Amino acid sequence: MQDQLQAILGKTEAALASIEGRPQLDQLKAAVVGGNGSLTAVMKGIGSLPKEDRPAFGQVVNKVKSQLEEMFKECGAKLDAREDAQALGSPVDVSLPPPGDYVGSLHPLTQVKRQIVSIFGRIGFTVAEASEVESEWYCFDALNTPEDHPARDEQDTLFFPADTRFGNIERREEEAYMLRTHTSSVQIRTMIGEKPPIRVIAPGRCFRRDTVDATHSANFHQTEGLYVDRKVTIKDLRAVLDHLLRELFGKEVKTRLRPSFFPFTEPSFEVDIFSSNLGRLSNKWIEIMGCGMVDPEVLSEVGIDPQEWTGYAFGLGIERVAMILHGIDDIRHFYQNDLRFLSQF
Ligand code: DAH
Repeated sequence: MQDQLQAILGKTEAALASIEGRPQLDQLKAAVVGGNGSLTAVMKGIGSLPKEDRPAFGQVVNKVKSQLEEMFKECGAKLDAREDAQALGSPVDVSLPPPGDYVGSLHPLTQVKRQIVSIFGRIGFTVAEASEVESEWYCFDALNTPEDHPARDEQDTLFFPADTRFGNIERREEEAYMLRTHTSSVQIRTMIGEKPPIRVIAPGRCFRRDTVDATHSANFHQTEGLYVDRKVTIKDLRAVLDHLLRELFGKEVKTRLRPSFFPFTEPSFEVDIFSSNLGRLSNKWIEIMGCGMVDPEVLSEVGIDPQEWTGYAFGLGIERVAMILHGIDDIRHFYQNDLRFLSQF
């Protein structure tokens, strides 16, 4: 019987070496320690031994049984580990550098914004900033945009609920708070905070209740410009915009002012550019921005004497500039954070 036990141990050990999976292991276990298993058969044979030999033999059998169980357990653990490793795939060394030598870069909108700020910085403009939350007075009324103006339609503007309060954002009366629809509100905050001469550029995020498509986004960026001094004329405006647009789009770019309307400038213009060097947009006039001479009403509203001071203002969309510069045909690319797009800049 001792020999039988040794044989069972030996055979089981050999069989375990080639086990490939749990079902096979279970089969082997059943064949050894199951009801009809080889070890069970030996244990049953104990009854045929002389009484005095039984305890010693019982001990040996139990020892073999626990040895076998240990072997099964070990084999099971190995199978589990192998399965885990397969599920995890090949090992990853997180300390390795990423494939290729990719380095991050600034977002194209940030690049264009910085470029514009830098162009104006070199001709004496400083950066003005205000909050993205505005009150109606700063965004509309002070900019000579009356209650019935289409821009004040709820369709276009994202208002906060009437009882929302922003303790740190000044408003005139009890008017509603909203997300600013343009950076023109920074003109007002600047003129209230500073005495002329004023020379500021105000880049920032704006919001409108637009349905998102290839050319509209509910969240976009503008850069406002404001210059208030003595004897400022349209010629000054024209000169500074020519300078900006040549720096942005190249020396060969032609510009023109087209009469237009904005509530806060009088006269108002749309600015178009024409260039042979703009990819698909080459050789045709394309609209790029709005501008005009600051309406005397606006100056009076913020306590600047329009008899003494005049000024010009302009506003351009940062997305629009980036799209023209890089031949991008869908505004949504800017906000999707897709590296295949971003890594091109
Ligand atoms: N605020 C205008 C808009 O969002 C853009 C604009 C036009 C700004 C003319 C100006 C300006 O300062 O003079 O469409």
